[in-house]
Amino acid sequence: MARAYNFSAGPAVLPLEVLQDAQKELVDYKGCGMSVMEMSHRGKDYDAIHQEAIATFKELCGLGDDWAVCFVQGGASMQFAMIPMNFLGKGAVADYGKQGTWSNKALKEGQKVAALRGATVNVAADTQKDIPTRMPSEWKWTEGAAYCHICSNETIAGAEIKEFPKTTGPLICDMSSDILSCERDYNKFDLFYAGAQKNLGPSGMAVVAIKKELAAKGDDKIPTMLQYRTYVDENSLFNTPPTWGIYIFGETMKWVKRMGKENLFALNAAKAKKIYDVIDGSEFWTGTAVPEFRSNMNVTWRIKGGDEALEKKFLDEAKALGMSSLKGHRSVGGLRASIYNAFPMDGVDALVSFMKDFEAKNG
Ligand SMILES: Cc1ncc(COP(=O)(O)O)c(C=O)c1O
Repeated sequence: MARAYNFSAGPAVLPLEVLQDAQKELVDYKGCGMSVMEMSHRGKDYDAIHQEAIATFKELCGLGDDWAVCFVQGGASMQFAMIPMNFLGKGAVADYGKQGTWSNKALKEGQKVAALRGATVNVAADTQKDIPTRMPSEWKWTEGAAYCHICSNETIAGAEIKEFPKTTGPLICDMSSDILSCERDYNKFDLFYAGAQKNLGPSGMAVVAIKKELAAKGDDKIPTMLQYRTYVDENSLFNTPPTWGIYIFGETMKWVKRMGKENLFALNAAKAKKIYDVIDGSEFWTGTAVPEFRSNMNVTWRIKGGDEALEKKFLDEAKALGMSSLKGHRSVGGLRASIYNAFPMDGVDALVSFMKDFEAKNG
């Protein structure tokens, strides 16, 4: 079996064990005589999968009974719209961090809803265009804000918040690319969410953790499927949920538990450090994020400050060696290694050794 070292930013590498177990159970899930994909979402076999997935995730994040975990289709981008639709009422103010491409997309959706409703959106910090990329050090929050939206890890820029700001309003965070990747107090937030396709499972849904109290405050005049309370009250079973995605999510969460969170977090830091050490070791490479905000999930860098021809050569040679998707996002170019939880250390070692070799030949 030849598995590529898949550095894709998402959909991304999943734990091999999870894939292999899913393969074993694909046609006949634990003697049920059918695949998880074929089961009724109202039956007891699926119900056990659903409940266990939620319980394991809550345990890993340290969430109590005041929290609900919801599965919402439409990915993280749907959350950009649902958040203001639920919580940004007429005359209200919402604060947004404009920290990079993704939080800017969230901000734009907030602005659309604000324009429709006669509400206001305040940019609490703007580092989107800063080069090298970084996260804000100062934020301007609005007293009485309906909510404050930030992004913990800007996947394209490769910049990550290391210390979360204290906000006045409820803190909402897009954690799509760094959820469960490092030690974090999830109870500091009121709502956090992640498109599943990086650290949680396959694409097709967002996992949304929301304080029940906040969900109950959402607008109840918007369509049912857009209200958080629907997902909370119906345990994400108001309609047919993405059952296969939830099953793989649950298996991935059990894998995190088996690995041990602390071990996994230490491994993530060690993986990133190996690549950053090579980048810092020579002027041949240029890291694109300010060191104190460097992401441990998405390492971004350039060759000789942006030599595109050499970067293309690097990508072609890496691909031939079984290392795929090292190209930076199409909007910024350069190189990016996405090394999520399931990315193996031997893949990082292969990359680091190739980088040294490439530099020796082309430096
Ligand atoms: C930080 C962040 N937020 C949001 C998104 C959008 O996610 P989706 O494609 O699930 O809508 C992405 C996708 O890469 C992301 O990295």
